[in-house]
Amino acid sequence: MTTGFTVQQLRAAVSDAVRAPSLHNTQPWRFRLRDGGIELSVDPRRRLPATDPSGWGARLACGAALFNLRLALAVAGTPATVRLRPYPAEPDVLARLTPDLPRRPTPTEQSLHAAIRRRFSNRAPFWPDPVPADARWQLGEAARAEQCWLELVIGTGAVNAFAEIARSAHRVLERDPAYVAERTAWIRSEPCPDGVPVAAGGPRSEPQDLLPQRGFGGRNRAPGRDFEPEPLVAVLGSAGNTATDQVVAGQALQRVLLTATDVGLSVSLLSQPIEVPGAREALRLSLGRFGTPQMVMRIGYGQPGVATPRRPVDEVLDLPVVSA
Ligand SMILES: Cc1cc2nc3c(=O)[nH]c(=O)nc-3n(C[C@H](O)[C@H](O)[C@H](O)COP(=O)(O)O)c2cc1C
Repeated sequence: MTTGFTVQQLRAAVSDAVRAPSLHNTQPWRFRLRDGGIELSVDPRRRLPATDPSGWGARLACGAALFNLRLALAVAGTPATVRLRPYPAEPDVLARLTPDLPRRPTPTEQSLHAAIRRRFSNRAPFWPDPVPADARWQLGEAARAEQCWLELVIGTGAVNAFAEIARSAHRVLERDPAYVAERTAWIRSEPCPDGVPVAAGGPRSEPQDLLPQRGFGGRNRAPGRDFEPEPLVAVLGSAGNTATDQVVAGQALQRVLLTATDVGLSVSLLSQPIEVPGAREALRLSLGRFGTPQMVMRIGYGQPGVATPRRPVDEVLDLPVVSA
């Protein structure tokens, strides 16, 4: 019979889980052991009320952390069975992982796990080199393996139409003082275990930019260092848009991001058109797909990205207090 996970296994897996991306690097997750299972909850204290009033972004980030957790446990030879939102009375508990039969990790699990610590959001301009067909196919397969879809926005007309939707969403958000205050509050110019360091924030936007860049206090760029003229834009979508669908989408997002890292690609995330309901609907209609867009990615080849910090593992664990 398989016994439960240990605190040691929990700690090791969580140190990988927390490398997941999150809105403004808020790291909105908590982990605990309960009856031998590892449970992942969204941390309501780390929600962004102005940027993410519905909690969509926090659930996506937790889904991404869940994918890392699954990989870490599988690579350690202790794979897990996952139940999403296992307790109707506790909606913040997003997943419960219990030990599955031990087995060797697959080569895919090993390479995706190895990519966890090499993945960073890369907001700098990419090189003009196109993303080859086999890499595009692998990214689509990564989304499909996690019950989601990935639609590549191909052709100048389609990219321009997408950019128009994204820029208008960006303008709507930037007109909201609460959103701007929140974004500004998470920019870090001093070392800090959360938030977006200025060095990772990418260059400052310029009027000629096709895609809107969320401002994280980046530097002015050198003349001529414009963004790639034909970015590869990919939209990740899920079948529905329940809280559970968003956790599923977060896992698919992380699988796509790690697959991209594994094949040498860089990615930056662009969620303004997801955050503004009218823009999200316009995006959905422009793709002509069933389901709901959950994230937009800009994908290409570039200089390595800049790592962002994480809180120590102990700060995100809820462990029973053991009296001496
Ligand atoms: C739901 C979600 C939405 C995000 N939206 C954006 C965005 O619009 N623009 C951006 O530059 N980064 C965005 N990010 C990336 C985060 O800022 C980034 O993950 C975080 O700062 C941690 O850095 P890392 O990805 O390099 O680990 C988003 C991340 C998540 C999970």
